[in-house]
Amino acid sequence: MRVSLYIPMLVLAVGLAAADPQYCLSPMKRTDERINSHGYPAETHEVETEDGYVLTLFRIPYSHKLRNQNERRPPVLLQHGLFSNSDCWLTSGPDNSLAYLLADAGYDVWLGNARGNIYSRANNYISLNSPKFWHFDWHEIGTIDIPEMIDYIVAETNFKKVHFAGHSQGTTVYLVMLSERPEYNDKIATGHLLAPCAFFEHGRSAIFRWLGPLVGTPGGVWNQLLGDTELIPHNNLINRLVDNSCGTGSPFDSICKNGFLMFANGGYQNTNISSMQQMIETHPGGSSSNQGIHYLQLWESHEFRQYDWGTKKNRELYGQDLPPDYDLSKITAITHSYSSENDALCGPDDVDTLVSKFVNLAEDHRVPWKSFNHLDFIVANNMKELVNDLVIERINKHESR
Ligand SMILES: *[C@@H]1O[C@H](CO)[C@@H](O)[C@H](O)[C@H]1NC(C)=O
Repeated sequence: MRVSLYIPMLVLAVGLAAADPQYCLSPMKRTDERINSHGYPAETHEVETEDGYVLTLFRIPYSHKLRNQNERRPPVLLQHGLFSNSDCWLTSGPDNSLAYLLADAGYDVWLGNARGNIYSRANNYISLNSPKFWHFDWHEIGTIDIPEMIDYIVAETNFKKVHFAGHSQGTTVYLVMLSERPEYNDKIATGHLLAPCAFFEHGRSAIFRWLGPLVGTPGGVWNQLLGDTELIPHNNLINRLVDNSCGTGSPFDSICKNGFLMFANGGYQNTNISSMQQMIETHPGGSSSNQGIHYLQLWESHEFRQYDWGTKKNRELYGQDLPPDYDLSKITAITHSYSSENDALCGPDDVDTLVSKFVNLAEDHRVPWKSFNHLDFIVANNMKELVNDLVIERINKHESR
C-alpha cells in the first residue's frame, strides 16, 4: 500500500473506533472469568447507590484449595486506583496477587468498582452519555460508593466489620469516607493503604507539571471545558493502541511507556511484564475528568480538601471561599500505611504530611526497596514479599489467626 493511503485509512479507523457502538464492550476477560480461570469460585453482585449508580462488586467467597465455604471467613474489601478496576488485584495470579492470597488465607474477598469504571457504568436515572453521569469525583466515591459497598458486605456476610485495602485513589476514598462519614470507622476491622494519596505538594511526576497549571486552578477555561466528562475513555481504539505497544513482541514501547509514565516514574525494574500485559486488557478503566482535576487542585493547593469550584460556587456549596479540608483527625479505624520512596505521585514527603495528620495511625511502613514505585504495589515481581504478605500478616493478627 502506498504511504499516502495510510493517512485516510488512519482517519477512518479513528472515526470508526470513536463511533463504535460496542464502546466499552470489547471482548475481554472480566474479573469473574479471571477468578474462575484459576479455579476459584467467583460471584458478581450489584449495589445501587442512593444517587442511582450501579456498582459491580466481584467476590471470591472462599478458596477452592481450602474448601472453607462453611468456615468463618471475615470479609475484606479491595478498592482499586484511578483509571483502574477490580482486575488490578488479580493480574499477577494466585501466587502473588493480593485477592488470591487473601482467599487462600481464609478470607471472603470482595473487589470494589467505583462509579464510572468499566464494571460500574450504569445509572438508573442518568444516561451514560449525559455529562451529568460524569458529574462526580473521588469525593462521591468516598462518601457514597465505598460506604454503600461496606453496608452491602455487612448485610451479606453478617460480619459487623470489614477489612479494607486500597491502592492509590483507593486510599484517597478511604480517607474521604472516614473523615466525612466518621460513623464508618466502626465498620472497618483494619485498613491498609497501599501508596496512600492525599497530599501532593511534592508530587514530581511530569503529569503535575504539564497539567497542574492548566486545570489545577479552579474556574479557568480549561477547567470548565474539561469538567464532567470521561477521562481517557476505555474504548477499542485506546485499548488497541495500548495493546499493540505493550503486547507481546514489543513489550515496552513508547506509547506504553508514556501511558504508564505518570504512575511508574523511575523505571520498570520491578515490573512483572506478563501481569502488566493483563492489566492492559481492561485498563484504562474509565473515570471522570473531575477525579483528575481534583487531584491536580490538591497539587496546586498543597491541601487535602474538597473540590474547588471557584469562589462563587464554593460560597453557595460550602459557605466559604475555599473548599473545606478533609478532617483526617476523625479517622479512628486501625489504619496501616505502606508507601515507597520512589513513588512519583504520592512520595515520602507527602506521606509524612499525611501521617502527621493522623491522631492514631497504627503503622507507617516504608517499603525497603529503593526503586519500588507507585504501580509496583500492583504489578511488581516482589510485591508479595514487600507488601502483600505484610497486609495479610496484620489482618491475621487482628483476627488472632
Ligand atoms: C507475574 O505474572 C504472571 C501472570 O499473571 C504470574 O503467573 C506470575 O506468577 C507473576 N510472577 C510474579 C513474581 O509476580
